[in-house]
Amino acid sequence: MRIDIVTLFPEMLSGYLGHSILQRAQAADLLDVRLHNLRDYAAGKHHVTDEPPFGGGGGMVLKPEPLFAAVAAVLAGAADVPVVLLTPQGRLFSQPVAAELAAQSRLLLLCGRYEGVDERVRQYLVTDEISIGDYVLTGGELAALVVVDAVARLLPGVLGAEGAAETDSHATGLLEGPHYTRPGQFRTWPVPEILRSGHAANIARWRRQQALRRTWQRRPELLLTAPLTDEDRYYLAILAEERAGALRGR
Ligand code: ADE
Repeated sequence: MRIDIVTLFPEMLSGYLGHSILQRAQAADLLDVRLHNLRDYAAGKHHVTDEPPFGGGGGMVLKPEPLFAAVAAVLAGAADVPVVLLTPQGRLFSQPVAAELAAQSRLLLLCGRYEGVDERVRQYLVTDEISIGDYVLTGGELAALVVVDAVARLLPGVLGAEGAAETDSHATGLLEGPHYTRPGQFRTWPVPEILRSGHAANIARWRRQQALRRTWQRRPELLLTAPLTDEDRYYLAILAEERAGALRGR
């Protein structure tokens, strides 16, 4: 998959992209991330990319011409490439949105800065707007990294262990249960016996129940949309009964 990113600060992104799994994915040609400096597409001696807004008000707004020029140059006529603006006004990013983007062969991400972008960029240039959460960052760069990271790890071959992405928190619609590694006993805290039993079916059932329990405790609204089996529902009924019993006993 190829992902082009247009930003005023390519160096902010290159460090993160140059390490660990994302670096290996690029070295293995599973992922091709290309950074483009918006300033290179700004005309004039001073390469001005932003100006104060018409009508006054604080802050600076990214001018349309450099953004249109950058997108035209990067796409070079390629059709059907989603042009995604990172903005707190976008649709909320989530695991299903990451999966949707990972199904594309190319993406073009535009990082906003300052007060935002000229409205004509929204209206006539971008095809999608994404927010990574209900808070305001100083620019879209961190958001672009979040999107690239979440998308890249869904691409075939990027995660070492086959199927590792399938059991992630959120991929199943549930939070993941706890993980343990050696030592079997750390201070006074042992690893749950069942994980050391070697009994694969029991371990799988325990993990599923732990995922259900954690989701029920922390993010119960996820249970409304997660795919659940009859056995899952039975276990959730037991949890609800446990809680009701504890409340009665108070
Ligand atoms: N730019 C500034 N804040 C943002 C957010 N929450 N998501 C995406 N892009 C942003």
